[in-house]
Amino acid sequence: MNINAASPRYPQIKADVDRVEGFLADTSIAVWDSLLEYQKTRYITGHLGEIGVYKGKSATILAHHQCSGEELWLVDFSNFIDEAKINLASITPNEIRYIKQKSVELFRSPDLATHRRTFRWFHIDGEHTGQAVATDLAIAHELLADDGIICIDDFLNPAYPQISAATFAFLQAHRFELTLFACGYNKGYMVRPTYARHYLQMIRDTLAKELRARGLDNFTLWKTSPGADFDCWGIHFRYGDRDYRGLDSNPNEFC
Ligand SMILES: C[S@@+](CC[C@H](N)C(=O)[O-])C[C@H]1O[C@@H](n2cnc3c(N)ncnc32)[C@H](O)[C@@H]1O
Repeated sequence: MNINAASPRYPQIKADVDRVEGFLADTSIAVWDSLLEYQKTRYITGHLGEIGVYKGKSATILAHHQCSGEELWLVDFSNFIDEAKINLASITPNEIRYIKQKSVELFRSPDLATHRRTFRWFHIDGEHTGQAVATDLAIAHELLADDGIICIDDFLNPAYPQISAATFAFLQAHRFELTLFACGYNKGYMVRPTYARHYLQMIRDTLAKELRARGLDNFTLWKTSPGADFDCWGIHFRYGDRDYRGLDSNPNEFC
């Protein structure tokens, strides 16, 4: 793997993530790190959260990116979260809030009301039923700041069609509050509509370079439809020699 100096912290992050057993594609590790670094360049601050922690693999990336004054909420009802606590102990000097309960119980927590619209990142990777996804999306929607990202796991995974169905239903019901701007490697990425243009532009301008800087080359960034049709990038398998691929009718056109 050829990781260049454009991402000096990444080798340590990747090594720490690799040490933890769990579920996360290498491409998603690099995409998360690129998006979280991008948030820094735009002075986007806020809390970080995850429902479905298991042993703390994806949470390791969040812990690395947690800044002083930012809370990291990790929600999981199983005993696995105790292992996550051990695995994450040396990653961040900042305090992590381990919330050992079912995510639905967050609705009864006064912390939900006091933290509304303050999170810059929220990962949904808990119970994989459609009902649970709808619940977790509602929680993430409450907590998400104007410029933050919700990432949902197993989106467009044929093994879990209910996750995609529940996500599209939620997006349809909240079409002026959330929009999908990227998907790939079993993850869907959503933001507030008025901020989406910045993340869409970041993907067009720099994501390929950022992924290469993190040692990846087996990807293409697909934008196969005009924005007025569906404004979303696909992060997918390599297409010929292209880092970027546009419309089917003209792969050099991105709109
Ligand atoms: C696929 S694993 C999460 C993987 C993890 N993000 C990683 O990086 O490896 C799903 C986790 O969700 C937890 N979980 C399932 N249902 C849940 C619920 N209703 N509330 C909170 N956690 C839940 C499980 O205990 C399990 O640890």
